[in-house]
Amino acid sequence: MVIEKICCLGAGYVGGPTCSVIAWKCPDIKVTVCDKSVERINQWNSEKLPIYEPGLDDVVQKCRGRNLFFSTDIAKSIQEADLIFISVNTPTKTIGNGKGRAADLKYIEGAARMIADLATSNKIVVEKSTVPVKAAEIIMKILRANTKPGVEYQILSNPEFLAEGTAIDDLVEAERVLIGGEDTPEGHKAIQELCWVYEHWIPAKNILTTNTWSSELSKLAANAFLAQRISSINSLSAVCEATGADVSEVARAVGRDSRIGPKFLEASIGFGGSCFQKDILNLIYLSECLNLPEVAAYWQQVVNLNDYQKNRFTRKVIESLFNTVSDKKIAILGFSFKKNTGDTRESPAICVSKTLLDEGAKLHIYDPKVETDQIYYELTHPQVTNEPEIVRKNIEIHRSAYSAVTGAHAIVLCTEWDEFKELDFKKIYTDRQYKGAGQSDLTLTCIYCEKLASFLTDNVLQLILYV
Ligand code: UDX
Ligand code: ADP
Repeated sequence: MVIEKICCLGAGYVGGPTCSVIAWKCPDIKVTVCDKSVERINQWNSEKLPIYEPGLDDVVQKCRGRNLFFSTDIAKSIQEADLIFISVNTPTKTIGNGKGRAADLKYIEGAARMIADLATSNKIVVEKSTVPVKAAEIIMKILRANTKPGVEYQILSNPEFLAEGTAIDDLVEAERVLIGGEDTPEGHKAIQELCWVYEHWIPAKNILTTNTWSSELSKLAANAFLAQRISSINSLSAVCEATGADVSEVARAVGRDSRIGPKFLEASIGFGGSCFQKDILNLIYLSECLNLPEVAAYWQQVVNLNDYQKNRFTRKVIESLFNTVSDKKIAILGFSFKKNTGDTRESPAICVSKTLLDEGAKLHIYDPKVETDQIYYELTHPQVTNEPEIVRKNIEIHRSAYSAVTGAHAIVLCTEWDEFKELDFKKIYTDRQYKGAGQSDLTLTCIYCEKLASFLTDNVLQLILYV
């Protein structure tokens, strides 16, 4: 079978960019990205895409209406497709067995049942969402238990390694593509067919093929390793602050060892994003289920350290404001979990904001790409507060950084957006001093996160912190 039509179930942060790049690089393949959310599909078909990702607009412009389509007609897309990516959400379970750790596979299961109901010809079904090991088995069981006569399925695991903010480059210049499948002649054939799609632009040597379970576990392992590096450097940032060592100097020195390497060693206020915490929790749950408590405890510590770092940072903010932030105006610059994305999932800014709000602060928030409604959604979520109305009263969203910091007692930089490098902190400080003249408690304190320290010159920092 030559793949002529691809359907992707789920038009989110993974499905949207991945399939846009496939359509761009494979003009001979028709790619239809489906979602059950009409609103999401309308946005994909509009001028303002539902996600901000550098370079994505250009790719969509080039291909939309040519060989890239966004549709809610899931039945038609499934029926005509040779290959179906499942790219639906896999949130952490909030109730029941494995609550707070195991992935909730209800959307995966829903997608598999939909395919089983609708498919009338052979399909290669590719698991693209980040899933716990053995999720492919669930898809396989559902599909094979409900197979119609004359329809055969091959199930592949093809985890996505893109990082938000650099998704298009990561997809175009992928260091590796991983494809896992069944160790049978039919399985090998399906793997080769998916390899053929990627070989339109990825050198064959960068495409790794494995069995299904290795592929699934490799994805969790890669994210766990990356998160572990961040927790390691963050743990050392606490030691640095207590000893006078400089964590960025330590990172530079350590990273020069080619066995360690320089990337992913930036101390921060903690990692965020939809993947790291979720995947480590999946790994912990898997280890517990396999009766490997020592392994589970090892990875749990990476998450614990991340929580510690977020809390440690917020405590520093409060301490530097004489241990009280009640009724103080605090500017929060950056709300997304990293720069160049509007995604707020697990953003450390949420945790920092929550604690400051609990302590009675008035927050003035600015982020270049996060929508106002999204900030309200995150901070009034039941997991954050029981009193959403009070939270609403205590936050104000701004359209520029200068507007947010005007008159602030403290500036808390939560995301390393490049535009914050350009801010005239000296002027902000001077203006604040002038407006606050005569009121000794109105000291402007600039609290910075380590990953921003490199672009705030020492002089400016000294000035804002100590003058
Ligand atoms: C991650 C993986 O990088 C990607 O391969 C996988 O497919 C999905 O998960 P993503 O979460 O989009 O991607 O972003 P990433 O760049 O990995 O950053 C995650 C978090 O770690 C961010 O909050 C970031 O600020 C933080 N981080 C990253 C650090 O604190 N220090 C670093 O040195 C690097
Ligand atoms: P990710 O970051 O993994 O891409 P998102 O939450 O951004 O996750 O996107 C997942 C998308 O999958 C959502 O837009 C959701 O509406 C969609 N979805 C969930 N189940 C189905 C389904 N059965 N068919 C089509 N789309 C689905």
